Amino acid sequence: MNNAMSFDSWVRAHGQRTELALENLLVAANANPVRLHEAMRYAAQGGGKRIRPLLVYASGELANHSSDEKNVALDSAAVAIECIHAYSLVHDDLPCMDDDDLRRGRPTVHKAYDEATALLVGDALQTRAFEVLASAQCEANIRLEMIGALAGASGSRGMAGGQAIDLESVGKKLDLAGLKQMHAMKTGALLFCSVQLGGIAARLNPTQMEHLKSYSEALGLAFQIVDDVLDATADSQTLGKTAGKDAANDKPTYVTLMGLDYANKAAKDLQETAIASLESFGPKAQALKDLALLVVNRGK
Ligand code: IPE
Ligand code: IPE
Ligand code: MG
Ligand code: MG
Ligand code: MG
Repeated sequence: MNNAMSFDSWVRAHGQRTELALENLLVAANANPVRLHEAMRYAAQGGGKRIRPLLVYASGELANHSSDEKNVALDSAAVAIECIHAYSLVHDDLPCMDDDDLRRGRPTVHKAYDEATALLVGDALQTRAFEVLASAQCEANIRLEMIGALAGASGSRGMAGGQAIDLESVGKKLDLAGLKQMHAMKTGALLFCSVQLGGIAARLNPTQMEHLKSYSEALGLAFQIVDDVLDATADSQTLGKTAGKDAANDKPTYVTLMGLDYANKAAKDLQETAIASLESFGPKAQALKDLALLVVNRGK
């Protein structure tokens, strides 16, 4: 982000860049089987804040160079992470998980289509993510690193594992360490992966990657705390998803375990930790700093 560009216009420009990359890299809606491809686009293109792609692009700006190869890698990474995220939401909403019928202000995929289609949409978005990375027109070692990072973050030691802990924890009172672990896995892993993918595309060094890790660990936890707070305090129309779902499903959250005031304070402290981790990058990290503010202050 250069100084002349406000953060609002940066978000708008990179939001549009994400939509265009998704339009180009998702399989066409009229490809056979049409119903599945339509439903994949319904899941991936129906709005959303696009925080993960924005994190990819913002981390990509930490490099000193700009090249077509870097841009291709960033667009592929933005689409891949958003495909994984969209798949995680489609499955999260299924009756066997959170059983939700509203997502991004529209019926969830299993409501707009059917459960079997929603299952397949998740499966196929997941594999499309890796196909997009594998066929990106950039150096093979960059592709390989990105594929490894995304696989690790999505799987049983990352997002899917966190979702398993979430389901096992229904009706239980996790302790704070257990709750943090669940949040770090189900939500933090994909946020860390977003900045990691941007960092790989930008060829950052290991020290720079460590700073990004600290940033995204704090941001990932803050992100899920804010999601928990909004679930308890905002309405369904504002959220575009069913409010009060965590209490209804008896899920342990920051709000149920620690109370609203503690949760809000924790999110604010984590926002500061995240921003402090970026110190050594100087002005090039402005978009990442502003994204931390956006994540914690959304809904306020
Ligand atoms: C919702 O993610 C699921 C969580 C990990 C908390 P987002 O709040 O990023 O959802 P969209 O993409 O904007 O719809
Ligand atoms: C979901 O957490 C995290 C995912 C990996 C999808 P939530 O269940 O709190 O997400 P929402 O509130 O339904 O978006
Ligand atoms: Mg859930
Ligand atoms: Mg849910
Ligand atoms: Mg939630």
